[in-house]
Amino acid sequence: MDVLTEEQALALGMARAFAAERLKPVAATLDRDATWPKAQLAGLAELGFMGMTVPEADGGAGFDPLTYALVIEALATGCASTAVIVSVNNSLVCEPIAKFGTPEQKRAWLPPLVEGQRLGCFGLTEPSSGSDAAHMDTFAERDGRGWRVSGSKNWITNGPHADVMVLLAATQKELGAQGVSAFLVPLSAGGVSRDRHDEKLGIHAAHSCTVSFDEVLLGPEALLGAEGQGFKIAMATLDSGRIGIAAQAIGIAQAAFDAAFAYSHERQAFGSLIKDKQAIQFMFADMATELRAARLLVAQAAAAKARGGRFTREAAQAKLFASEMATRVTHRALQVFGGYGYSAEYPAERHYRDARITEIYEGTSEIMRLVIAGQVLKEAAATNAS
Ligand code: CAA
Repeated sequence: MDVLTEEQALALGMARAFAAERLKPVAATLDRDATWPKAQLAGLAELGFMGMTVPEADGGAGFDPLTYALVIEALATGCASTAVIVSVNNSLVCEPIAKFGTPEQKRAWLPPLVEGQRLGCFGLTEPSSGSDAAHMDTFAERDGRGWRVSGSKNWITNGPHADVMVLLAATQKELGAQGVSAFLVPLSAGGVSRDRHDEKLGIHAAHSCTVSFDEVLLGPEALLGAEGQGFKIAMATLDSGRIGIAAQAIGIAQAAFDAAFAYSHERQAFGSLIKDKQAIQFMFADMATELRAARLLVAQAAAAKARGGRFTREAAQAKLFASEMATRVTHRALQVFGGYGYSAEYPAERHYRDARITEIYEGTSEIMRLVIAGQVLKEAAATNAS
């Protein structure tokens, strides 16, 4: 971004330095061995990056939404896996606790989540419901003053290492979305089990797994927000999360661009460096333009969030464009490398694999189009009515 406040520039500078010194040098190894970036996460917690948007009064860094997006983008240029681990802890865990939690819930969970002593995950997706998120089988029934939870959540990013889950469960199944409630579930509770971590196309260091609940007993203090408000909490939480994923997609695409650009200054073909070939220059022109467009959409979504009120459309547009842009940019970047792009010797193939998930998690591109169309129709109806 062209004009940043001193605070924004400071946070971005720290994130860029961390990505260059602590993430980029190890990203290929973390990915190849599917190693959880434990030491890197500890370093990020020291910088305050595990609780960026949590208000300072609740122990967080109190960053505005643009600073948050800039930091996630910078981290993703170094390691896409680390960036999503951080994004989930921030947007999908700390943020709903800060926004919907009671003073006791905030006191209990936010300091350790922000300081990196605890890690969070978000449990919405189930084996038989991903996009159709309201139709979940996981059920929480009243048990005395508390709750008894049974069911299974899958593709849970951070799941193998998390201490707490923001869990969405049906409390009145017949009511659909209106019968869903949110809970804060300590994953040390009896009856919680986790499968081994998932094998995936990319983001190998960002472990995910299925987490199952077998008659897990929760006290009344586990309910996050009001009973029956869980679906709205999940959707509002995902609005924020989608800005983070859009930023992650931009970071991956920028890293792919940078690597291909550098390679084009070394590689000779037909008697000159490939950077001087118009075919390659046109690819860079398209990549640079799309990257800028995605950044502007993310900045606009962050500004809409900072103004208050709903920013559903802006977040969905940013995620849709940035994630599909990342797929196109990483595809072209790999093409610049030619055969070497297909080899694990260079980072192009990792960027290409890592970019793909950004079109799927926290809402697929198809769901983003549904959400945007819904908002466009609603705005048109409101304009016609006025
Ligand atoms: N903010 C607040 N409220 C919202 C909202 C939002 N963004 N979106 C919807 N709502 C409200 C609606 O206003 C409605 O309320 P009323 O009943 O009072 O009118 C209620 O929620 C139900 O909304 P819909 O009727 O639109 O619900 P739907 O069942 O048709 O579903 C959907 C809508 C957009 C398809 C939704 O199911 C969805 O977003 N699906 C995708 C799920 C998703 O993103 N999953 C990602 C999993 S998390 C993950 O990937 C994390 C990770 O590991 C990295």
